[in-house]
Amino acid sequence: MKRALASLSLTLACAAVSQGTAATLTFACDSVGQGYDECKKGADAWAKRTGNTVRLIQVPKETDSRLALYQQQLGARSADVDVYMIDVVWPGLIGQHLLDMKKYIPAAEVSRHFPAIVQNNTIGGKLVGMPWFTDAGVLYYRTDLLKKYGYKAPPKTWNELATMAQKIQAGERKANSRFVGFVFQGKNYEGLTCDALEWIASFGGGTIVDGIGKVTVNNAKTVQALQAIQGLVGTVSPQAVTTYGEEEARNVWQAGNAAFMRNWPYAYAAGQQKDDPKTKENEASPIRGKIGVAALPAGPGGKPAGTLGGWQLAVNAYSKNPKEAADLVRYLTGLQEQKRRAVQASYNPTIASLYKDKDVLKAVPFFGSLYDVFTNAVARPATVTGSKYNQVSDAFSTAVYSVLTKKSAPGPAMKTLEGQLNRIKGRGW
Ligand code: GLC
Repeated sequence: MKRALASLSLTLACAAVSQGTAATLTFACDSVGQGYDECKKGADAWAKRTGNTVRLIQVPKETDSRLALYQQQLGARSADVDVYMIDVVWPGLIGQHLLDMKKYIPAAEVSRHFPAIVQNNTIGGKLVGMPWFTDAGVLYYRTDLLKKYGYKAPPKTWNELATMAQKIQAGERKANSRFVGFVFQGKNYEGLTCDALEWIASFGGGTIVDGIGKVTVNNAKTVQALQAIQGLVGTVSPQAVTTYGEEEARNVWQAGNAAFMRNWPYAYAAGQQKDDPKTKENEASPIRGKIGVAALPAGPGGKPAGTLGGWQLAVNAYSKNPKEAADLVRYLTGLQEQKRRAVQASYNPTIASLYKDKDVLKAVPFFGSLYDVFTNAVARPATVTGSKYNQVSDAFSTAVYSVLTKKSAPGPAMKTLEGQLNRIKGRGW
């Protein structure tokens, strides 16, 4: 059966080549963690089935830098890249340069994905990106160290986190001077917007701009949240946390040098890396088997909040190969490939039924236990601020950064930010 299928796909591939219909697509995908390798596996599998070729290009690690580059390319109507992986906060920023996937992918397939994400990706009736994987911020903790220091469960509040991190850090530093309590994304970029939204939402401080476009960031709970996190920097979090993105935080954590980490789900599979006996290329992760994952802590009287992240696949409206590009997107966002990526690399599917799949749950148990965190994640105010979202996010992360680096106190920083955001808003978003 397998051989018959293989020879069938080879025949199809040869037919495509001999008719001169084979296309070479350029794909701007991922570069964080196992991102590039996993994109390549999926794209190669599609290429093999169809006889087309996919050229994967190197993309910047940070979402902000990717956006700036892609806005330049699309603004110039460049056909260089056929398929882009786009962030959940971009549809309103670049949607006008992307094809409507509804013209290429049957409605029954689209409707298998979480409706909120499909809606997020729909701009003026056009589905500008197919949901590929979703994300929410989670708390990673070291199960062995919690046990060693007498804790039965991960922290439920930011205060508890500070106390636990302090105790574990003090103990571990006796043997390891590099050990720290808590790492997160503290540098001034989109990742800090995500982390800071979690802090303030979990204190009940809202979402920077509310659902009807009102700037809400200057409130007492937001200020309290920022005060609490400012107090972590230089105590249980290293000063250098203000230079960390996702991967810098993960490197500290995965080397075994942190008790807690805030990150996205991809960091789970990376931390569980086994030694590869054949290639010897990948060394086993030193924290394999010692990783716990929980909802992030809450503020006093608040509820835990994980920021909604995630990525879609989109076809460049100026592509010379729209049909093939859409077929690649259809394959990669389909059930089989989403399952493979969930099991092998802990990327959250956007297809609800996969959260009940036993192979998925066995590989990534917290996809089941934290299902609510993923389906109730807090959205950044991207839809409501539309084409001004990146200005909003930039002003917000810059203000938070000035608090973390103790250049400003939280109260005055939020007051100034409120004025800035209202100026960006002008007469409306
Ligand atoms: C993750 C999220 C994405 C977010 C980014 C910030 O990649 O999926 O939505 O913008 O992190 O660094």
